[in-house]
Amino acid sequence: MHSKILLFNSINKIGIMSQNRTLKLSAGIAGTGWNYTSWMHKDMPADAGENVDFYVEQAQIAEAAKFETLFLFDVSHVGAGNIPHYLSMFDGATIMSAIAMKTSKIGLSFTASSSYTDPYNIARQVLSLDKISKGRASLNAITSNPGGMVNFSRGHLGKSDQYPMHREFLDILLGLWDTYEDDAFPRNKETGVFLKPDKMHTINYRGAYFSVDGPLNISRSVQGRPVLYTAGSSTTFVDIATSYTDGAFIAGPSLEHALYTATALRNKLIEKNRSPENFVIATSQNAIVGKTDAEAQQKYMELVSLDRYRAMPAPLFFGSAERVANQVQQWYEAGAMDMLVVTQDYPTGLADFAELVVPILQDRGIFHREYKADTLRENLDLKKPLFRKI
Ligand SMILES: Cc1cc2nc3c(=O)[nH]c(=O)nc-3n(C[C@H](O)[C@H](O)[C@H](O)COP(=O)(O)O)c2cc1C
Repeated sequence: MHSKILLFNSINKIGIMSQNRTLKLSAGIAGTGWNYTSWMHKDMPADAGENVDFYVEQAQIAEAAKFETLFLFDVSHVGAGNIPHYLSMFDGATIMSAIAMKTSKIGLSFTASSSYTDPYNIARQVLSLDKISKGRASLNAITSNPGGMVNFSRGHLGKSDQYPMHREFLDILLGLWDTYEDDAFPRNKETGVFLKPDKMHTINYRGAYFSVDGPLNISRSVQGRPVLYTAGSSTTFVDIATSYTDGAFIAGPSLEHALYTATALRNKLIEKNRSPENFVIATSQNAIVGKTDAEAQQKYMELVSLDRYRAMPAPLFFGSAERVANQVQQWYEAGAMDMLVVTQDYPTGLADFAELVVPILQDRGIFHREYKADTLRENLDLKKPLFRKI
């Protein structure tokens, strides 16, 4: 693996310099956090997962700090043993639509499972969000845990069905998002022409799992189509991501692990004649940051003291702002990520990162100081896809 890392390091550094690309930041907003007890912290609204004011506040903190996007992970296999956030959380499309009206630049991404939903519904929801937000929508389409199938009348399907379904789902999404050519709707009151019918296209898709004729009833996105991600770690995931999506979410338990998956993705993109620079590799980290290492340690201990039954692991991105900025820079420059999704367990985790770490990354020229455009795709340095007739 070591030689792969070295090879990739050189590719990535050339990429950054030639394109003048910078690190992308995303805020992984998640109610009370990814643990059992931080909802009990005095500064955490205990109902954060279904509190619209909390979500809007988090979104505005991220937008003020110029984060390119927001990101919501999701769960559908719900049960009593889950962490509190999983038991009490908004539907992604709905909360992102509310946030769209309280923000103007930041991207809006939510997660939906191809195992639990019909692609027609999701295609419509995401493209509606895209219109509501004027080109800022994106979707993380995932396979998820087969356990959730029981809630969606699909209890007869198992793990082996999930990836074949996922491919069909993504094919259909991409097809439906190109239902209309860019100039399909003259909406001309003088001539009485609302739609040019020859610019509307059906997909007539017949798969083993989904059967969808189209057309979709919403016009093409100003960003070409909403940004599409998928998440995972297996070789099948790598193959699917590099065939269908604009980006991928990968696990980041260590720099080496993330770099290994990132390298596999970039090698596969090149094999398929796609540019790694037109693809976003993201990983998430729960950062606990202080002005000093001692202050960060104090914040972590506040969380530890809330859980008498479980040992809360210390986060990887942990310590003084300088220390965390160094880690972010190291991961970015090594090629382990194009985008960092900052999640929070500590109630002010995102605000601390925005206030303390972002200015350091900006001073070092690693992170931008201003949005360059109004659409998410442009802010992520992704090319606008041309209309594609199926
Ligand atoms: C970084 C990352 C993020 C994920 N996010 C979600 C999520 O939000 N909701 C979910 O149900 N599954 C999520 N998953 C699980 C994946 O959808 C998938 O089921 C899992 O990775 C197994 O597939 P694989 O073995 O091909 O990687 C995530 C996985 C990874 C690695």
